[in-house]
Amino acid sequence: MNPEKRHVLLLWMLVCSGMTEAIEPFSTSIAVGMAAALTGFLASYQNIFYYFNECCRPEWISFNKTGLEVDLESKLFGQHIGSRIILKALTGFMSNDNPKKPLVLSLHGHTGTGKNFVSKLIADNIYKEGMDSSFVHVFTSELHFPHSSKLDTYKSQLQQWIKGNVTNCERSMFIFDEMDKMQPGLIDSIKPYLDYYDKLDGISYRKAIFIFLSNAGGESITQIALDFWRAARDREEIELKDLETLLSLSVFNNKNSGLWHTSLIDKNLVDFFVPFLPLEYRHVVQCAMAAMKAKGLRPDKNVADQVARDVNYFPKSERVFSVKGCKTIENKLHYYT
Ligand SMILES: Nc1ncnc2c1ncn2[C@@H]1O[C@H](COP(=O)(O)OP(=O)(O)OP(=O)(O)O)[C@@H](O)[C@H]1O
Ligand SMILES: [Mg+2]
Repeated sequence: MNPEKRHVLLLWMLVCSGMTEAIEPFSTSIAVGMAAALTGFLASYQNIFYYFNECCRPEWISFNKTGLEVDLESKLFGQHIGSRIILKALTGFMSNDNPKKPLVLSLHGHTGTGKNFVSKLIADNIYKEGMDSSFVHVFTSELHFPHSSKLDTYKSQLQQWIKGNVTNCERSMFIFDEMDKMQPGLIDSIKPYLDYYDKLDGISYRKAIFIFLSNAGGESITQIALDFWRAARDREEIELKDLETLLSLSVFNNKNSGLWHTSLIDKNLVDFFVPFLPLEYRHVVQCAMAAMKAKGLRPDKNVADQVARDVNYFPKSERVFSVKGCKTIENKLHYYT
């Protein structure tokens, strides 16, 4: 029996079994023993409490680099650039005990290419509770900031949310979904938190992670992927440098990107612009195989091919990329299995 359990048991015996009444006279050694048991209990109680209740401690929050690497390798299809940047960015950031600023990633790409999916993989490999962790916060523009007339209210709410959550746990993760539906200017309200400040009002934001998700820039990414395809060049030859500048520029200049003319880009506060490539037929097949496996079915290549054949592709003439990426594959499987 480990010492913690022994302390708890001892105290339980003393308090709950009526032993205290039986011991007469009350000797000093018993008093000392009880005090030790009580101290032990309080210490163990705290540990037991931490064991069952998620809290901002390494027991609940620790980066599993190998786990993320394996997940990206085996679960995320067709995103060689995205996988590489994300692994590099998180490994660097999480292994630094004293980062100069929070990590800010901006994920861009066509619908259904894995932006939310990758955010989940990141959360799964940092927080024991994954996306269910109370330290992972998702903001969706249409849900949390629906009215354009309330910009000022949203700005201060957003600041309060971030401040409150980082005060509660410095290793908090914030995911801003549908950035392209966010009003221009709103995201600028959190700029101070993303910047190189040691502390703001006594709070350090430097260990937090911010992830922005959007379709903005997706067209430029698709264009490049299509150019490579037309030139019969391997998709894996596409490099970040082919896309990064183009991406940050197109996002900065797009009024509907949520990052339009934002000082976050001006001031280089976004650490990585991560392009998500549009998915091809073979990736849809992989998604279908993975979905069957996730449902507990034996992956069947014929079924996966059937699913992938029934998906729409663009451009219309060449049918290269899946219109919805892998987005509806899981639901489509119902019709085929
Ligand atoms: N590259 C991928 N590899 C593996 N599975 C994927 C990939 N892309 C999408 N999927 C599957 O499709 C589902 C939907 O993808 P996801 O929600 O991540 O798309 P998204 O990029 O966020 O799209 P949107 O821009 O429409 O929000 C995922 O839960 C996952 O099952
Ligand atoms: Mg999404």
